[in-house]
Amino acid sequence: MAVSVEDFAPAHLGKDVDDVVILGGGLAGLFCALKLSPRPVTVITNAPIGEGASSVWAQGGIAAAISEEDSVEEHRDDTLAAGCGICEARIVEDMTREGNQRVHDLLSYGVPFDQDLEGRLKFSREAAHSHSRVVRVRGDMAGRAIMDALVAAVRKTPSIRILEGYIGESFIGEGRYVTGVLARRRGGIERLAFPARAVVLASGGIGHLYGLTTNPHEANGHGLAMAARAGAVIADAEFVQFHPTALNVGRDPAPLATEVLRGEGATLVNQAGERFMEGGHPDLELAPRDIVARAIFREIEEGRGAFLDCRQAVGARFRDDFPTVFAAAQEAGIDPATDLLPIAPAEHYHMGGVLTDANGRTSLDGLWAAGEVASTGAHGANRLASNSLLEAVVFAARIAEDIQGLMPTPRSAFWDEMDDEPGLPSQRNVEERNAISVLRKTLLKNVGVLRDAQGLKTALADIALAEKSCVRQSIKNMMAAGKIIAAAALNREESRGGHFRKDFPAENPAMAKRSYLTLAQIDKIAADALETA
Ligand code: FUM
Repeated sequence: MAVSVEDFAPAHLGKDVDDVVILGGGLAGLFCALKLSPRPVTVITNAPIGEGASSVWAQGGIAAAISEEDSVEEHRDDTLAAGCGICEARIVEDMTREGNQRVHDLLSYGVPFDQDLEGRLKFSREAAHSHSRVVRVRGDMAGRAIMDALVAAVRKTPSIRILEGYIGESFIGEGRYVTGVLARRRGGIERLAFPARAVVLASGGIGHLYGLTTNPHEANGHGLAMAARAGAVIADAEFVQFHPTALNVGRDPAPLATEVLRGEGATLVNQAGERFMEGGHPDLELAPRDIVARAIFREIEEGRGAFLDCRQAVGARFRDDFPTVFAAAQEAGIDPATDLLPIAPAEHYHMGGVLTDANGRTSLDGLWAAGEVASTGAHGANRLASNSLLEAVVFAARIAEDIQGLMPTPRSAFWDEMDDEPGLPSQRNVEERNAISVLRKTLLKNVGVLRDAQGLKTALADIALAEKSCVRQSIKNMMAAGKIIAAAALNREESRGGHFRKDFPAENPAMAKRSYLTLAQIDKIAADALETA
């Protein structure tokens, strides 16, 4: 572990420490904090809670086998099929079995899931699900509504202390034991050390490392890099999911056009009006996400353009039934009731992350991980739509239970402030901005929907060069996270799920297993790649 508490917080020695520190204020972080209450918890977030987390932007909802026509076994089997042979079967069993309970927890926190006149939950259909099993809120408002309810519950819970405006930079540790978090004030220079008895990493995904993404700016891989730098094992980092239908309207991040639209019958067409999924897959527009994303990518690359046609299937209902997508389209001067929606695949979700077990424990003592930053193995090579919010709540609850079991007696909280990073000359700021721009461009171009060895090596070379001009640890973390994804993608010489290699276009049955890499191994892959680039 690179950072020790003595380096940053000599004043802490001999004093008491925070009990539980949660890094991240999205769904996994807040749900874990609520499940831990009345135990004292400090939640550290970059943006104010309820903002800056991908969970807030989730349009689909939560997949759970609750309806009478559905079963846990079918949800499990759909998840395993989408994962292309490398899901962790027991994790999928646990997740699908506990979905019903967790959705009822959310109802008890006040989440207004859509219900019929008799108060029964309503269910929607998304791609690769054999049943309608996605619980939603007012069409495309699930993420917002879930987070609003949780933020309200958290604000009423005295045991939860929220510290907004801090970005995690490093873990504090002793040997292989994580004993706290070092965080820097957003836009500032001073850093805080948070010694803790237990640290839960819930910092979200990596979307903003890509030039086109549906994720907020805060999803920039910092938690992944922090854990890797501390020696944690990273699993399946090469598996990145591209959402097929981000609105291609020049916005960053790109607004999402939920898959539920295709569930309602919206079609995909090129500028000649051809339904290009015909002949591509028997499920047409509701084929697995990676297949649809690649088909759209090819239409765009080959100059035919790609559009979502909601005119017939949704038409005049659009404004009321899909208010979020409607607002984004309107802002771009498009009326989806009468116009085609221009679309492109955009980075949406990272199946890989910090390796965890069924209780969310990472390979480092004292560190748990939940939500998108974690890799439980539930998603394999390709996540089934609306399984991510489910995974976040199931494993956040399990982490809370695990911590309570391990450390039944909470301690009181303590923290201290310090200022030990030199100011950043403005020239450095410009150089770091350029480095981020290089990173986002190269990941999109070379570590995107279609990949090959040459492109992946180019990405690793670009990142190596860009990181030389980075000073702040938070920016170096972004470079490290980009390197982890590119090196893991180079290492997997086959195509599977979200990872498609033009130079190895077939699945290789001998490689039907998860990948596990440490930063030392990643560095070796990257160094070898640079030698042969
Ligand atoms: O299309 C969507 O609404 C996305 C759902 C998901 O990524 O789970």
